[in-house]
Order: sequence, then C-alpha cells, then structure tokens
Amino acid sequence: MAVDELMGDELTLYLSAKQASETAHAPYSKFHVGAALMLDDKSVITGSNQENAAYPSGLCAERVALFFAGAQAPQSKVLMILIYVPGTGRPAAPCGSCLQVMAETEDRQNSAFEILIANDKSVILLKDVQSLLPFRFGRKDLQA
Ligand code: THU
Repeated sequence: MAVDELMGDELTLYLSAKQASETAHAPYSKFHVGAALMLDDKSVITGSNQENAAYPSGLCAERVALFFAGAQAPQSKVLMILIYVPGTGRPAAPCGSCLQVMAETEDRQNSAFEILIANDKSVILLKDVQSLLPFRFGRKDLQA
C-alpha cells in the first residue's frame, strides 16, 4: 500500500511513528526508528530506538513503546502498532526480539493485533504476530 492511501487510525499511527523517529537516539547505527501503537481507548503511545555506547543496552523503538504501554496502561489492549523507518525502499521488518515481545503481548491480552511496517513511500500490513513467530519460547500450548 502507498503511504498516501492511509486513512483514519492507520494514518494517525503513521504520523505519530514518523514524529517519534525524530527522537531516536541512534548515534551508533544512524538507523532512526519510530513506533506508534494504539490502545483500546484509542490513545496512542510512541517509542523510538534508544542506543547506548554499551551496544546491547540499547532498545528498539517497538519495545520502548510496548514496555511503556505495559507499565503505564497494563489493563489496556494493543489494537495496532506501526513501525516507521525513513526511506523509500522496502519497509524494515521488526527484529526477532521485538516479535517475541509482541507475541507475548498478544498472549497476555488474549487478542491479536496488526503490525504495519512503513517508510516514506510504502506500508506493509502484517496480520498478527503469531503468524510471524509461531514456534517461539514461552508459547503455552507448545510447552512440555
Ligand atoms: N531497530 C528498531 O528500533 N526496530 C527494529 O525493528 C529494527 C531495529 C533499531 C535497533 C538499533 O538501534 C538500530 O535500529 C539498528 O539496528
């Protein structure tokens, strides 16, 4: 889908994530990422990647937003998350650690949510996290 076809909540999340990418602290990778999620009361929570000189101490934009939501609005459900990275090629896919956290969010709230990955030109809609990371650590029905 082209960015200029976005409407409603998806457009709101796109603009929020794009704005959030400007708060990225990414002096090491120079890869600026913004994430925006919508909760079931329609409030929007944003995050951006926050790096550190001790590289593994940094955190991706998605997890900054998801953990903030978990800390500030633990009873709310995530309806949708949009991840924005500047550019015009293929939108960037979330890393495995973010998928793991998103999957557990789906498990915790007992409902799936859409993930939109976007840049300045295109948006790709991914239906849910479960289908992206089906065989994962912590999945209750796969445990011995
Ligand atoms: N990053 C994100 O914030 N989200 C992603 O989905 C992929 C990667 C960040 C982590 C690091 O700060 C930089 O992008 C380069 O990997």
